[in-house]
Amino acid sequence: MSEKYIKDKFLYEGKAKKLYTIKGSKDLLIQEFKDDATAFNALKKGTIENKGIINNEITAYIFNFLKKNGIKTHFVEKISDSEMVVKRLKIILIEVVVRNIAAGSLLKKTNFTEGKVLKDPIVEFYYKDDALGDPLINDSHALAMGIATESDMKTLKKMAEAINSLLKPFFKKRHLKLVDFKLEFGKDSKGKIMLGDEITPDTCRLWDDKTNEKLDKDRFRFDLGKVNESYVEVKKRICI
Ligand code: TMP
Repeated sequence: MSEKYIKDKFLYEGKAKKLYTIKGSKDLLIQEFKDDATAFNALKKGTIENKGIINNEITAYIFNFLKKNGIKTHFVEKISDSEMVVKRLKIILIEVVVRNIAAGSLLKKTNFTEGKVLKDPIVEFYYKDDALGDPLINDSHALAMGIATESDMKTLKKMAEAINSLLKPFFKKRHLKLVDFKLEFGKDSKGKIMLGDEITPDTCRLWDDKTNEKLDKDRFRFDLGKVNESYVEVKKRICI
């Protein structure tokens, strides 16, 4: 652990991460990645060996790449195997999903079959609420609930599309298809919207570009085997 940052109080525990305050800092937090894995709104629970370490490394690598390419993120620096320092954000209660290839829940909403390449990316919003099971919402729902403004919604869509445009070639270079992924955003102390959370095989669907082998959390969700091996393989391909 870096001497620069001294872990202070435990703040919050989510399904895959924990947050801690830092002594003497109001604006920064420590984000710790756990090995715990859940699926289907925590109906399925388990652990993935070394996931915390792998996802910390992958998120640090990708957020550094996005930062270099002009995307505002909460990432400050990686400080240990499973921890990074991040800016403290007020999380916007919306999960933004971007899809390039049909898979997952899109198959239940459309006539697409798995693997259909979409002409243009689809951007979706889900209300981040476990009790409601993270329902699909649109701009009007977000405005009505007061969880985002019209301008926030425009920014979320624009940033999600910009991130997708950067990540598609990033993964292609690494022989992975970016099928779909989920992003979370928040506002810093000045009200500026930034990318938060993580980008990992927990939050993306990633397929091998030749065989279409699934190398992400779907292996855990659907008991496909070789879960840890797939996370290790993705880390090897990403962090070059
Ligand atoms: P979906 O097809 O199940 O809606 O998932 C779309 C993408 O979002 C997929 O890459 C997995 C990711 N995701 C999360 O990160 N968290 C979630 O709670 C869900 C449902 C999906």
